[in-house]
Amino acid sequence: MSEKTIGVFVGSLRKDSFSKKIAQNVIDLFPEGFTAQIIDIGNLELYNQDFDDNSTPPASWEKFRHEVGKLDAFLFVTPEYNRSVPAALKNALDVGSRPYGKSVWDAKPGAVISVSPGNISAFGANHHLRQSLVFLNIYTMQQPEAYIGNVTNVLGADGKITSENTKSFLKSYVDAFVTWINHF
Ligand code: FNR
Repeated sequence: MSEKTIGVFVGSLRKDSFSKKIAQNVIDLFPEGFTAQIIDIGNLELYNQDFDDNSTPPASWEKFRHEVGKLDAFLFVTPEYNRSVPAALKNALDVGSRPYGKSVWDAKPGAVISVSPGNISAFGANHHLRQSLVFLNIYTMQQPEAYIGNVTNVLGADGKITSENTKSFLKSYVDAFVTWINHF
């Protein structure tokens, strides 16, 4: 079996982002044969259809589309902004979805982890994101769902997860995602 590459898309651009820390912990949980890596979404110009209509896409879009097109699966790790997905992540989805008919997201497996310092665990972002993933035809794992709430209670100063419960949950989550990816 050849190595599979999972692109990890973090919804926060913040240097000390909790979501990014959770993503980095999750990356380490993938087994042999799977490489997970964060794909930068912070340098993408805001989506403007004119660039595609005139065949003048910014270099940042071209690089991103090329990079995402080579991936085998997608993992989205996102905080919630105002009960939805941060604009940076939505922008990345939009950039990858065009030009029309050439979406780099189409027909590949994906999964969602939402992260929040609050109790509601970014449920709103998780499900708004899933709505877009349906349209993009990303085969999104339904179960288990992953809602990491009260995230400051499970992260140590070094950015590692200190909670054994959270670690073991995320390990089982990654194992399920690997099984899911292998279906395709
Ligand atoms: C937030 N935050 C937030 N949290 C939440 O649970 N639900 C929400 O709707 C919002 N809304 C929101 C909007 C905006 C514009 C900001 C900047 C923040 C708080 C958010 O969860 C917190 O800042 C996290 O630390 C952001 O995630 P990262 O950057 O730590 O990954």
